Amino acid sequence: LKVLSVASEAVPLIKTGGLADVVGALPGALAPHGVAMTTLLPGYPAVVQSLKQRRAVFAWDSLLGTPARLLAGKLDGGHPLLVLDAPSLFARAGAPYTDAAGLDWGDNWQRFAALGRAAADIAGGALVQRKKTQRFDLVHAHDWQGGMAAAYLRLAPFGGKEGRIPSVVTIHNMAFQGWFGADIFPRLGLPDAAWSLDGVEYHGGVSLLKAGLACAHAVTTVSPTYAREIRSSSFGMGLEGLIIARGDAVHGILNGIDTQVWNPSADPYLSQPYGRRTLEKRIANKRALEAEFGLDEDDGPVFIVISRLTWQKGMDVLPEVLDHLVGIGARLALLGSGDAQIEQALSRAAARHPGRIGIRIGYDEDLSHRMQGGGDAILVPSRFEPCGLTQLYGLAYGCIPVVTRTGGLADTVIDANPAALAAGCATGVQFDGVGYDSLAAALTRTVALYQDRAVWERIQNNGMKCDFSWKASGAAYADLYRSLTA
Ligand code: ADP
Ligand code: GLC
Repeated sequence: LKVLSVASEAVPLIKTGGLADVVGALPGALAPHGVAMTTLLPGYPAVVQSLKQRRAVFAWDSLLGTPARLLAGKLDGGHPLLVLDAPSLFARAGAPYTDAAGLDWGDNWQRFAALGRAAADIAGGALVQRKKTQRFDLVHAHDWQGGMAAAYLRLAPFGGKEGRIPSVVTIHNMAFQGWFGADIFPRLGLPDAAWSLDGVEYHGGVSLLKAGLACAHAVTTVSPTYAREIRSSSFGMGLEGLIIARGDAVHGILNGIDTQVWNPSADPYLSQPYGRRTLEKRIANKRALEAEFGLDEDDGPVFIVISRLTWQKGMDVLPEVLDHLVGIGARLALLGSGDAQIEQALSRAAARHPGRIGIRIGYDEDLSHRMQGGGDAILVPSRFEPCGLTQLYGLAYGCIPVVTRTGGLADTVIDANPAALAAGCATGVQFDGVGYDSLAAALTRTVALYQDRAVWERIQNNGMKCDFSWKASGAAYADLYRSLTA
């Protein structure tokens, strides 16, 4: 089965969040199930520069109005990569979706509609004219940036052959819907009929995510609990009606983690690798972490946070609870970037508590490994979390997750309540609702658990034993693809 995966980011080439981890891992997750996956990415400078050869395998004179070429290369693990080289859309400094000032690029609709148009052309057979081997049985599109692939496949397929190629759209985050004004509609190259409830129209404008969700043969999201949550107005962000209407076509498939990259016994970034049976070695990593964050050396717990600093992640409430965290003998090492107000509030807290709170504003993949390997507990107080990956890395590293009971966090952490402790299956701490009281209580409960070394090590062990590899979810995606192509 040949699948074209279309997304706006993928490790190791370009990453702003968990989407990139997942898109980068999917080809390897699907290969054991007889699925050959090719990934299509936008030609941002970093992506084009990663290509050894810049040989065009296809060219468009006008892809939604701009000239574009398709370059071929390889992702990690040798999996095939296609790059949409459209310099007027992607060859610019800044982040994938925003300029240097952090504002959305004004032509994002065109950038990602072009990506979708390209995916539909490629899957529909554009490359077959040149190279007999490039045919695809299915397109798997991710988030609003990939969503238009499903819309074009259904509403304006390459060569006019409607509905031949099935599509799957995965929602990684319902909060980002790619909403634009009605004025873009005539420029999308769609038939007039696409301006409708079951087309691309959304509240008088165009939503690229909604277009994908309405047109895809199947919709998935990245955890079973989030798949249920987005049927409600609190999580559906306006699209709950469509999700309910899509009924059985909506599936929750939990993300896996790349167990080669996230393996504490063979992690090149750790000063001291360790395993489940050698947890005592972690202390060397903890001492290194304290030094790196300017924290006092002591026997109390070090909480870590590795996060986008946003409302979704509950990071606006975190600063309020830091006096309490310090008051109960804990310390915090935080790595993140995002909302300027949150960054300032965290900096003020760090200044109030030298040696107890260390923060690093920025993005640092290597440091994130060292934090998981040396921290005692990772705090993830998200208001909503489609899946979440950092709690999974925490589980694998014996860095106990302290999480809100929502989305993928609810599905992957077993709360250390009395029953779970008695049954010996607890893997972390869960709490309900993001506010001062719930967060402070969860911190207090975690510190109490930490004080009983035997209990704490049992919880660490339970998490490290869990299988969060792609094995089960790779099989689930493969089954879904087969059910759509049969
Ligand atoms: P989201 O995609 O919503 O941000 P996830 O938990 O799914 O949340 O994925 C976040 C990914 O980004 C993880 O791989 C995490 O380790 C990484 N990450 C987030 N912030 C940083 C940072 N400041 N430095 C390094 N890695 C980060
Ligand atoms: C999104 C979600 C996160 C999820 C990631 C990968 O960024 O916010 O919960 O883990 O996508 O699916």
